[in-house]
Amino acid sequence: MSAEAAYRAIELAFGAPETLAATATLSAEQRDALRQFWIGRASGELTTALSFEFILADLQQLSAPSALTELAERAIADEHRHVDWCLRFAELWGDGQPAQAELGGTRPLTFEGANERDMRLLRTVFGCCFSETVAVHVLLASQAEIKLESMARLNRQHVAEEVGHSRLGWALVAWPGLSARDRGLIAEFVPLMTRVTRALWCGPERAADAALHELGYLSLPLVQKACDVAFETVILPGLERNQIRL
Ligand SMILES: [Fe+2]
Ligand SMILES: [Fe+2]
Repeated sequence: MSAEAAYRAIELAFGAPETLAATATLSAEQRDALRQFWIGRASGELTTALSFEFILADLQQLSAPSALTELAERAIADEHRHVDWCLRFAELWGDGQPAQAELGGTRPLTFEGANERDMRLLRTVFGCCFSETVAVHVLLASQAEIKLESMARLNRQHVAEEVGHSRLGWALVAWPGLSARDRGLIAEFVPLMTRVTRALWCGPERAADAALHELGYLSLPLVQKACDVAFETVILPGLERNQIRL
């Protein structure tokens, strides 16, 4: 299914009576937890959209192949659409109260001790091989719990798009334009990028709630488990396979 067709189906399911009816079974506290969660998520998506703008500029400066810059361009548009949908769900669970996303930062990430070119490499590796790869695993874990059709469709589409975003990082580390020295540099920063990724994803202490998991809520236990799976099965082996050895 194309992205356009997927979003048409999401829109249809969002407008179906089943979606609105789901709010009736929730307590005021649960609705508020969902509203806050989706606002936070929208803010994360907005911050990620800006990170991809920095990544796009970095890739252009690195003279990376156009296949990579195109992935970055697509990611910017995808993340903005994620913001819009997160806000729509925030408003749904919040009884129609308007919701707004806020940027979590306005400057490119920096890595102490790295020069300007190194930082351009590290930002894509961190954003895509680390954070977006974790995103794929977190959303997949959530997909297994979701029961509401509109959310299941939205989450499935977000997974597909996050896979594309993580691929950008994996394409960069597979690029022959990276030297042995570049790979050694990335390896040096793996422990730091691992800590920052875990801190970013496992920050909010949201308790597990089966009823909320069915609606796409990401509790801390769900996120932590998915994060472990991402590191063990994809991130660390994927780096190793691309001669980035710890
Ligand atoms: Fe996203
Ligand atoms: Fe993403």
